[in-house]
Amino acid sequence: MQQKLVAIVIGGTGMLEGVCHWLVNEGYEVLVIHRDLAKFKTMQLRSTNPEQLHSISVDYHEDEQLQSKVRAALQPYGSSPDLIVSWIHNSAPKALPIILQEVQSLEKPWKLIHVQSSSSFFVKENTTVPATCEYRRVYLGFVMEEHGSRWLTHEEIANGVIKVIKRDLKETVIGTLKPWSKRPR
Ligand SMILES: NC(=O)c1ccc[n+]([C@@H]2O[C@H](COP(=O)([O-])OP(=O)(O)OC[C@H]3O[C@@H](n4cnc5c(N)ncnc54)[C@H](OP(=O)(O)O)[C@@H]3O)[C@@H](O)[C@H]2O)c1
Repeated sequence: MQQKLVAIVIGGTGMLEGVCHWLVNEGYEVLVIHRDLAKFKTMQLRSTNPEQLHSISVDYHEDEQLQSKVRAALQPYGSSPDLIVSWIHNSAPKALPIILQEVQSLEKPWKLIHVQSSSSFFVKENTTVPATCEYRRVYLGFVMEEHGSRWLTHEEIANGVIKVIKRDLKETVIGTLKPWSKRPR
């Protein structure tokens, strides 16, 4: 029997919702980390295959709860996801390492798509990942328009992340980061 494709999407009920729906259509079981269950259920209503969307409802600042809920959600899949898409606020620096610790893929390669804010581009922090992880970084930029600039829409962000997954791009800026002085305020 063919094994199921499994993805974790951290922050999947927000700007990454379109990514979750695309992954479902690609055949993935999608484990969605979020807090607001009502928002997750509304997202399921918009899905073609809602049973492939699985809720991990937890505040990712709560280290122990995050660890135990991710562990329990991954266990039916051998703790071996094929893909993690991560959008985590800077207020929770321990969240991604805690989640990565729960991945037990000792041989099978898998991908981490690390979505980061515009300002992270100038910090370039190092993310330590397991040996089997293929790390991909995505910066959220902004869009220059005739009379100024604006932040990206959810659709632009989701489509940008989908492009990164499809083309396996290593480091990408969605929109632009230049000129930085012209970013929206
Ligand atoms: N450079 C850029 O263009 C840029 C950069 C950053 C953000 N933005 C924009 O800013 C807007 C607001 O950003 P946002 O972060 O609110 O994005 P969002 O993606 O719309 O929402 C955040 C996501 O993370 C989850 N989440 C947030 N805090 C959490 C926590 N403590 N524990 C677990 N899950 C948590 C939310 O679920 P719950 O609601 O259930 O908690 C939701 O799924 C976005 O719509 C985006 O377009 C733009």
